[in-house]
Parts: sequence; structure tokens; C-alpha cells
Amino acid sequence: MRHILEIDDLSSEELARVLDLAAAPDPAKVLTGKGMALIFEKPSARTRNSMEMAVVQLGGHPVYIAANEIGLDTRESVEDVTNTMAGFHAAIGARVFEHSTVERMAAVDRVPVVNLLSDQSHPMQALADLLTVRREFSELAGRTVAYIGDANNVARSLALGAGLAGMNFRISTPPEYAFAEADLDRIRATGLEPEILDRPEDAVAGADAIYTDTWTSMGQEEEAAQRRRDFEGFTVDERMMGFAQVGAIFLHCLPAHRGEEASDDVLDGPRSRIWIQAANRMHAARGLLSWLLNEAQE
Ligand code: CP
Ligand code: NVA
Repeated sequence: MRHILEIDDLSSEELARVLDLAAAPDPAKVLTGKGMALIFEKPSARTRNSMEMAVVQLGGHPVYIAANEIGLDTRESVEDVTNTMAGFHAAIGARVFEHSTVERMAAVDRVPVVNLLSDQSHPMQALADLLTVRREFSELAGRTVAYIGDANNVARSLALGAGLAGMNFRISTPPEYAFAEADLDRIRATGLEPEILDRPEDAVAGADAIYTDTWTSMGQEEEAAQRRRDFEGFTVDERMMGFAQVGAIFLHCLPAHRGEEASDDVLDGPRSRIWIQAANRMHAARGLLSWLLNEAQE
């Protein structure tokens, strides 16, 4: 049974296939008469809606489940919830605090499990990011994405996805918010050597896509004030985008903290592709589910 806990659970060939399915018109209704359980420990606008609509477009029925309503790991263990849901649904998606929660669901191995964001990774976001870059530039191989900010779940999945797609990846973070060695090893295993740059301006220069995300991820709220101080100088604003080449686009997974990691004029400016990127969450989700619940299980 295949599970998608991180984007490198796909091979390069499988990733390309998922992106092709995401772009394909008239998807096969592989979920007709079937359900997908969508369990959330954290809030969501894009992930919940994109997954729900993707399931509907594939002929299925999504069921949103707030983790606190079912008492995930308090009223019932993660394993018992997973076994129960596997009796109703063709797949389970889960947004969790600890990555080990989705690993425990996958270990039950009854139905495919999709990580809808954990403290470690956000593979569904990375799929949409790659789809957005591919639609903009026609191909991914050889293109360069520059990530400015916190080396977080979104950055990790983006880097891994970039590696699988044959892209170049640059990152600039304050020193204490950099990738751990284990992250770099995993990224390098895709064949990518990430470029780590101290100055965000140097990362932006020559990149095709400039990417940022919140400095304070869900669950880190108590650190917000400290992080705002630590990330000073890392705002992607017009001055920063001035170092980018002509034709470079701006991406953000959203939600944006306007005036912190990105300025209004960049988020709403002509280089921004954030609304296309957000809409691509649904297409990417449909592509992934088409592959995972059909081709991958054949
Ligand atoms: N980008 C993203 O995952 O958005 P949500 O948190 O709103 O789902
Ligand atoms: N890094 C952010 C992404 C939100 C979609 C978080 O984990 O909160």
C-alpha cells in the first residue's frame, strides 16, 4: 500500500505523472461511491477545500473531521481511529501537529494515508507549487526556486519536490532557522545540492521563482515575537524583488502575514502568482488522488 507522507514518497517519474494527471481534463471518476476521511488537528482554508473539491471531482464524498471532535489519541488512539475510518473510506488525509501521527496512520496500512501538513512536511503544497512553476515556465528541470525565510515544513517539501523535478533550489534563512543536516541529507538524496545563502538578496538574484512562508508556523505562536525580531531583513518586499531577474514570479503557500514575510505590494503585485498557486492546490490534489487511488494500487 502506498502512502504520501512526504513528496519524496513519489519517485521522479511518479511525480511527473501526478503533475500530468493534475493538468489533465476530464479525470476518471476513480472515487465513485467512495469516501475520503479528512482529519484536521489544525485550521485550514486551502487544504480542506482543495481536498474536498478534488474528491468530489473524482466522484467521491469527502468527510471533514475535526480531530478534537473525535478525540484523536484522547478518546481513541490514532490506530483505532484509522482502523475505524478504513471501514468507511478509500483513503485518509490528515493534518497533524506531530509527523509521527501520520506515520502511525500509515503503519496501520489499511487504506492510503495522505499527509495534509505536519510539523515536518507539506507534500500537497509542494505538488501545487511545482504545478504552478510548470504552468508558468512550461517545464521544471533547470529552473531555480529561491526560498526566503524559515526552513519549515513547506520549505522542506518544496526542496524535496524541486530535487525530484530536476530543479535548482536556493534557501536563505537566519542561521538559527536553517535546515538540519538530516534535512539536507534527504534533499541531497534526490540528486539536488541546495544552495545555502546568508543574504536573501543573493538567493533572489537569478531565481525564476521567489518563495516565502510565515515565520511562525501553526503551533509556534508563543515564539512569534522572538521570530519577528530574528527574521528582520527577510521580508520579501519590492526592494528584495528588485534583485530578481525579469520574468521571476513570487509564490507563497498562504496564509500570508502581510508586512512580515512579504509586503502587500509583492503579494498583490504583477509578479505574484499566489491565487493561481492556491487554486492549483485543488488540481494537484485531484492529480495525486487519481494516481494514488488508481494507478498506484494496480
Ligand atoms: N497553504 C495551506 O496549506 O493553506 P491552509 O493552511 O489554509 O490549508
Ligand atoms: N508553515 C506553515 C504553513 C501553513 C500552510 C504552518 O505550518 O503553519
